[in-house]
Amino acid sequence: MVSARTDALAAASLEAVERALAWYADEVLLAEKPPITAAEAADLRVVLRGEGSLRPAQLEGLVRFTHTMFLVGQRTADVPTCNLGDALTALAAHGAHASARWPWRWDPTLDAEAFAKLRFSEASAGIAKIRRQNRDGWAAHASRNRAFIEQAVSGCARRDLAVVLGAGQAFDLPLPELAKAFERLVLVDIDGPTLEATISAVVKDPGLRARIEPRVMDLTGINGQLVRALEEVFSHGGDAAAIASDLSELCRSYWLPEPPALLGSNERADLLVSDLVLSQVAWPQRVHALRLYEQRFGKLAGEAERTWVLPWWELELRIQQDHITSLTGCADRIVLCSDVINRLTLVDSAGVERETGRKVFALGVSQLAERIPRALESDQHEAWEWVRYHAGSGNAPGSRMDVEGLVLRERPRTG
Ligand SMILES: C[S@@+](CC[C@H](N)C(=O)[O-])C[C@H]1O[C@@H](n2cnc3c(N)ncnc32)[C@H](O)[C@@H]1O
Repeated sequence: MVSARTDALAAASLEAVERALAWYADEVLLAEKPPITAAEAADLRVVLRGEGSLRPAQLEGLVRFTHTMFLVGQRTADVPTCNLGDALTALAAHGAHASARWPWRWDPTLDAEAFAKLRFSEASAGIAKIRRQNRDGWAAHASRNRAFIEQAVSGCARRDLAVVLGAGQAFDLPLPELAKAFERLVLVDIDGPTLEATISAVVKDPGLRARIEPRVMDLTGINGQLVRALEEVFSHGGDAAAIASDLSELCRSYWLPEPPALLGSNERADLLVSDLVLSQVAWPQRVHALRLYEQRFGKLAGEAERTWVLPWWELELRIQQDHITSLTGCADRIVLCSDVINRLTLVDSAGVERETGRKVFALGVSQLAERIPRALESDQHEAWEWVRYHAGSGNAPGSRMDVEGLVLRERPRTG
């Protein structure tokens, strides 16, 4: 039997999406080029209510519809709007797509084998290397990011506990300042050795160090299960199409019956910071699966690549949304900083580095606000560019990130 999450967060988002769809049902009849048809909107309504499961072909329509409603809402105040965050929050409320074969549950521990397979140490080393090679761009970004967090600290009424998620190497974080401002500072990352090394390197004062607690945790809560599920899929001797179909079923089965619980039941943070981790929580699994697939079947290309992309994208969006959900209910003030768009560059024939126009949308949206569900409101927002690395010779692309920071809190409930 399918159960459901019955939290206020999901209820507010479902109401927003339902009202937007009802408004859209009338408006679509007048539109020349609607983002989705009236029939597609009606199908989405069924899925969002939990009366059916989202089909892969519906995902792009859902993203287009919610993006349109977000833009309409920015222009016209009296339209009932919603965004992708609302739609994914509403979808996460029910387990219409859950599968008995893969019963997911949130488990923040990660075994050493899965940690190694998902190559988290290598990822940390890679980040440090790119930073060493691009110090100016990274320093400019770090200074904006740190200032944004410090401004959020100044709005905290109490200063007992601050928690930082994705603390990693703290390149972007004002760690000593946070340790000074709060009685306790909990730093969370999946890469324990790197986190320990960061604390030793960055906080020299023993008094401040004593306030810091490193917590090794898998924020997705599903990495170990996913690695084991991939092993099970690849242990069968099926051909490429059979394995791809199993992988699609695996990705689309993702559903946590309970939202992730980041802090202990008796803990409440005065400040909770999710720092540049939202875009990272759902890609190592996909890279690992692709590696396993290509080891057996060779390079993924053409139609096989197109069918591969959609279920992994759906999984990515759902895991990211559960991360945003996990920030609620355990803190007075929430800081969410994330890269949103990666704009690629190339060096042209005159030797000038220019944007190619190719963009990678890390969160499936153009603005971070599009992922924030209705039950949260923001009182601080900034956006800046992060020159991550420059384009090189031989058509090696460069990367400029659009980064955004939001300070969020739960909207007071009405009625
Ligand atoms: C881009 S880095 C964040 C940058 C960091 N805040 C800084 O100031 O340098 C992403 C961090 O998230 C961590 N991470 C990735 N997936 C995670 C997960 N599932 N759970 C916890 N941490 C994770 C990585 O180990 C890495 O340290």
